[in-house]
Amino acid sequence: MPDETSRATRNTRRVVVTGVAGFIGSHLAHALLQNGDTVIGVDRRDPSEDPAAAENLAALLRTPGYLHTHADLLTCAIDPLLLEADAVFHLAGIPGVRSSWGARFTEYVQSNILATQRIMDAATRMRVSRLVVASSSSVYGPTSGGPSIESDHPRPASPYAVTKLAEEQLCLAHAARPDCPTSVTALRYFTVYGPSQRPDMFIHRALHAALTGQPLCLYGDGHQRRDFTYIDDAVRATIAASHAPADTGIVNVGGGSNASLIEVISIAQSLTGKEIQVRTERARNGDVLTTRADPHRAHQALGWQPTTDLPTGMRAQLEALTRHPELTSTA
Ligand code: NAD
Ligand code: UGA
Repeated sequence: MPDETSRATRNTRRVVVTGVAGFIGSHLAHALLQNGDTVIGVDRRDPSEDPAAAENLAALLRTPGYLHTHADLLTCAIDPLLLEADAVFHLAGIPGVRSSWGARFTEYVQSNILATQRIMDAATRMRVSRLVVASSSSVYGPTSGGPSIESDHPRPASPYAVTKLAEEQLCLAHAARPDCPTSVTALRYFTVYGPSQRPDMFIHRALHAALTGQPLCLYGDGHQRRDFTYIDDAVRATIAASHAPADTGIVNVGGGSNASLIEVISIAQSLTGKEIQVRTERARNGDVLTTRADPHRAHQALGWQPTTDLPTGMRAQLEALTRHPELTSTA
């Protein structure tokens, strides 16, 4: 049984970050350590075999207060990881809309749904008081172009989005049980970008294309719009979610404005001073035309609003990319 006395007498928090070797998880863990929390990070990627994971983890592994576990949440013993934890940030999952069609769907179900069920069961057993879970703007599906509000009827348009909706609802269903000691805040992140963004994502690919001269594949006509959210803003919302009232439920993490892919290409060109060669391909199944958050609940419940605009955030991402060894030889 977890030791409640020890939890109550500590003056620092002990928090668990799943998916810590990933894009959002690694930034979040840094910020939590800076706030003085002890962070237990868990991820199934092995830094000795995965250079991107090693890069994301490098500074964390050198930071006092950080404890790393290399494990798959689908099979590992989760209770010991949650011992005396005050909060769990559950970011582990298989992201990406387009690759969720076909053979990889099993992996999406395993990591996004089955592993989440194990985490939620363990959080309950270990009496962790708060779990923050990473959901996705993709659960809204196609919209008329106006802002999506948390109470909108979800219409997920891809297998990925279906698994993210199942993930958040699974956590909320557990939390709604009268005997559940764990309250859940589900964050619907809107297309997060910034340094160490996943390489399958558009802003990374646009900046990479500008720096290397390699062509950029544009899926569709480039008029798709996204409520792009800078990583530091997303991290601030995530930490605030761990302190929000227990009944907060689902919260959009997006600022309420959006930009088209054509605008992103134009910003990438002006930041780098290089022309991007665009190769147009067919639009991909499951991609929605527009995402845009209604940001009111995030403002009210988390006291959150984003502070980084798209050109500023893309500049920071570009600066990080230009320091990357792979690009310093080809840029
Ligand atoms: P990422 O792929 O960079 O990070 C996810 C991490 O989870 C990876 O390091 C992966 O190894 C780990 N993981 C997956 N399955 C696991 C398992 N079974 N056991 C242990 N570790 C496992 O992705 P990201 O962009 O940082 O996204 C993080 C979370 O946020 C995901 O749940 C994603 O669905 C969600 N999300 C991301 C965005 C975005 O724009 N990046 C937007 C909406 C939602
Ligand atoms: C992103 C993340 O990848 C998802 O994991 C996340 O759940 C989702 O945000 C979210 O907000 O919930 P997405 O909006 O598709 O998904 O972001 P990108 O992968 O950056 O793609 C943005 C747009 O660029 C899409 O229309 C996509 O088709 C297009 N794109 C992407 C291209 O035209 N070319 C590429 O090479 C990559």
